[in-house]
Amino acid sequence: MTANPDEGATTATAGRGKLSGAGAGRGELSGAGADQGEIVGAAPAPDGPVSVIDYNERIPNNVGLATDRKLQRALQAWQPKFLDWWASLGPSIPTRDVYLRTAIAVGRDGWANFARVPMQQYRWGIFLSERNPDRTVGFGRHLGEPAWQQVPGECRADLRRLIVVQGDTEPASVEQQRHLGMTAPSLYDMRNLFQVNVEEGRHLWAMVYLLHAYFGRDGRDEAEQLLQRNSGDADKPRILGAFNEQTTDWLSFFMFTYFTDRDGKYQLGTLKESGFDPLARTCEFMLREEAHHMFVGTTGVQRIVERTAALLAAHGTDDLWDLGGIPLAVIQKYLNFQFSVSLDLFGSETSSNVASYFTAGLKGRWMETRRKDDHLLADATMQIPVVAGDTITTRTVPMLTALNLDLRAEYVADCERGIRRWNRELEQTGLPHRLTLPHEGFNRKVGAFAGHWVSPSGELLAAADWDRQAAGWLPTPEDRAGVAALMQPHYEPGEFASWIAPPGVGINDLPVEYDYVRF
Ligand SMILES: [Fe+2]
Ligand SMILES: [Fe+2]
Repeated sequence: MTANPDEGATTATAGRGKLSGAGAGRGELSGAGADQGEIVGAAPAPDGPVSVIDYNERIPNNVGLATDRKLQRALQAWQPKFLDWWASLGPSIPTRDVYLRTAIAVGRDGWANFARVPMQQYRWGIFLSERNPDRTVGFGRHLGEPAWQQVPGECRADLRRLIVVQGDTEPASVEQQRHLGMTAPSLYDMRNLFQVNVEEGRHLWAMVYLLHAYFGRDGRDEAEQLLQRNSGDADKPRILGAFNEQTTDWLSFFMFTYFTDRDGKYQLGTLKESGFDPLARTCEFMLREEAHHMFVGTTGVQRIVERTAALLAAHGTDDLWDLGGIPLAVIQKYLNFQFSVSLDLFGSETSSNVASYFTAGLKGRWMETRRKDDHLLADATMQIPVVAGDTITTRTVPMLTALNLDLRAEYVADCERGIRRWNRELEQTGLPHRLTLPHEGFNRKVGAFAGHWVSPSGELLAAADWDRQAAGWLPTPEDRAGVAALMQPHYEPGEFASWIAPPGVGINDLPVEYDYVRF
């Protein structure tokens, strides 16, 4: 994977299909009036090793499920519970069909096709990246040993926990976003929301497969729990705080896919390095799907900023509510909120758990195999932030204990790229305004800054000072009401809400005006 594969428009058009006139065959859009016929996006011919997914199975898979009757029966018993969950907590707006991408192979290229599908008939399945028979553990005390095909007994509880926490976030985001279809700014955006939703559902399948296949009875129990906990449920909430907040509007949704889904990308990146090979291969393939989720967030915010910048330049005021736009100051506040709650997902700067996960070979660093060090880190140190008295300073700690911060630093650098991209919209409009990432200590509930009052620019304040200024930094109820008032549905093909610019290109080379969702 390249350092940042998700930011290009090519992600959405990955199929490279070409539009052509009537009578075009499979893999191409057949003319303007083609909405009755089969429309399948072109998937280029695979150019790497692939294992084709068996779609004749009730559960599509490339893990040879048909040869393991016991596992197959267990997963087939879980399947109707998943479908019930999707029906009751998945997207709430009824639709006829949606132009969706479905994985068909796990090779480097040509891995998906695009077609109109009724969402409840989406083929959720189990897809692992190709096995590399020569793969070895890339870090920790088992460095260089063959990667494990079974769970090492002493790591069982830790691995199960890592898989359950990851698995819990996948259906949680679907639950958080379930009503957004009701207020979609366009059919294009609604389709992207649903694409993210069905793939998060598939990521749940990915984790449930591991639990069923490798963790026996405990794993099956955990798989049940993954459907019983629900986002925001008072009795059985999702495991992580950020996944119990409701995503009430599309500005939140785009910020969520940019900042919070990106945390998911980095967590998957560490599990992709795992010595437990089935987990590594699962996460590698999930990351491929995740790239589209990043794209939705990056371009979603960018298109909002584009519209805001145009209105700001034309009218000379950021008071854009009556003009149908979202004020830049409100975009900045949503950004501040989502970034700060997403940083909390990385945990404390120091953690003895993360050190033992690394040493045991369970969870590596971002791009572990590309790092030029000994992959043991026994003597390495790292500086971590600390609040001492009334200043923010640093302290040197063993690097092994600071790997959460190591990952968070990679994440923050990635987030900066989005900010630069969004600011180009402001620059190009000739505006002096800029969006910024708040200081890492701002609005934190976890780690070194929890319990301290840090401004977005990094000043340590007294609680009362911070409170007095908070309405300028975080969305107020009035800001949220202003955004909510703009959230009116736009369901005519090619129509877009006033607060967001249309995208430059459609999905899979289809026109922006295409009816990506039908009712
Ligand atoms: Fe996911
Ligand atoms: Fe995602």
